[in-house]
Amino acid sequence: MSAFNSVNNHCLGKIMALTETTDVVASDDIYDSQGVKLWAKGGKISACLQERLASRKLRTPLELTLEVENGITTGDVADDCQKLILANPILCHLSSNKAALAALSHLRLVRLPSALKLLLAAAYDNRGTHEYKHELHTIALCAGFAAYAQLSSLDTELLLSAALLHDLGVLYVNPDLLHSSRQLTAKEWASVAVHPKVSHMVALEIGKLRDEVGQAIGQHHERLDGSGYPFMLTKERISPIGSILAAADAMAAIIERGGEGAANKATLAIRLIPEEFDPVLKTYICTSLRDLAAPFGHGDQPCYEQTRDVVCKLDQVEAKVGELLQSAAGKVHDLLKMAGNVCHNVRKALRATGVDFLLQSYTPGGEGAFCGEVYHIVHETGWRLRNISRTLQLRADALALDEQAFLAPLISILEWTPDTPQETLVAP
Ligand SMILES: [Fe+2]
Ligand SMILES: [Fe+2]
Repeated sequence: MSAFNSVNNHCLGKIMALTETTDVVASDDIYDSQGVKLWAKGGKISACLQERLASRKLRTPLELTLEVENGITTGDVADDCQKLILANPILCHLSSNKAALAALSHLRLVRLPSALKLLLAAAYDNRGTHEYKHELHTIALCAGFAAYAQLSSLDTELLLSAALLHDLGVLYVNPDLLHSSRQLTAKEWASVAVHPKVSHMVALEIGKLRDEVGQAIGQHHERLDGSGYPFMLTKERISPIGSILAAADAMAAIIERGGEGAANKATLAIRLIPEEFDPVLKTYICTSLRDLAAPFGHGDQPCYEQTRDVVCKLDQVEAKVGELLQSAAGKVHDLLKMAGNVCHNVRKALRATGVDFLLQSYTPGGEGAFCGEVYHIVHETGWRLRNISRTLQLRADALALDEQAFLAPLISILEWTPDTPQETLVAP
């Protein structure tokens, strides 16, 4: 039995919402694990099924016994992507060349099994949502990156399939957490951060797709320097298409918000920590978007105090990592090394951008220097530090209690909320 033999209520809720606009029917008889027939093949799904399914295990995962009629297709997504590329100046610079549009057309060739068509419709049939917008931006960027990297036809198709399906795991997450304006608790964050793993399982167990697609999907929030989640994988363990998808997903998160200075914010975020993303893609992005350089936008205020807080936090974290490393072993040692490496990269970024120097040469009344680009650099680095804490917590959950207690002081130093809105590449 797989995890999908138990019905996930959040996913079921999305499927039921889909039945309000589109017919969903049973493609087979639906039985519970005791052999009780719950629904007959061919029957249209209604709220009555939802009641019958309450806390039952099924003989076959529900996703494999339902099909949608007239749901969104890969052709619809490709059409919407093409329109978006031509309408959005940033995407136009990265993904409107002939090769990128040819890469995008590979999406039309992707043949999905009916279970994935159902989930795709449940996730994206409403084309006005933020989730669909994110989906389109990610696919559009993948098409541009695939063309630039001169991927083979097969790899392009695998990458675009992964981009299409990468966030299906979000269907299985409590929607209240996804739309919450407050900071999530560590436990709540863990249930959101598991979505790449769920998307991976959906692709392999429900979709029976190729390993390369599942692997890339599962890696879409990983970073080459090991600062990503859920597994803190480093570049040797991230597949080539996984690394392209991760860069596209991260860029999409900024570009889709739009607004003044979006191109600058996106290029700053992608190049700030050089170890996070594929250097070849980064060069392509920065070079292609140079023409769109513009001020960072209004609303930036001097951030002297935030800069001081971030650098002070970094000092404390580096000292604690050094202290703990002296007596750490095994997996805890590896986690600490990883955290230390990420802090080292953040420190290098602050030096390379001159923010460190600016802080050292600050004199009272000099707050005006801490705005514009500096504001965004501090903003990005602050959230990265916070993210290390979240990722460490995620990994620490699998450790023994004494190991968790050993790491707790470090996590507690890192666990703070930067005094800036969360609008960065490290957003979930
Ligand atoms: Fe995601
Ligand atoms: Fe995503």
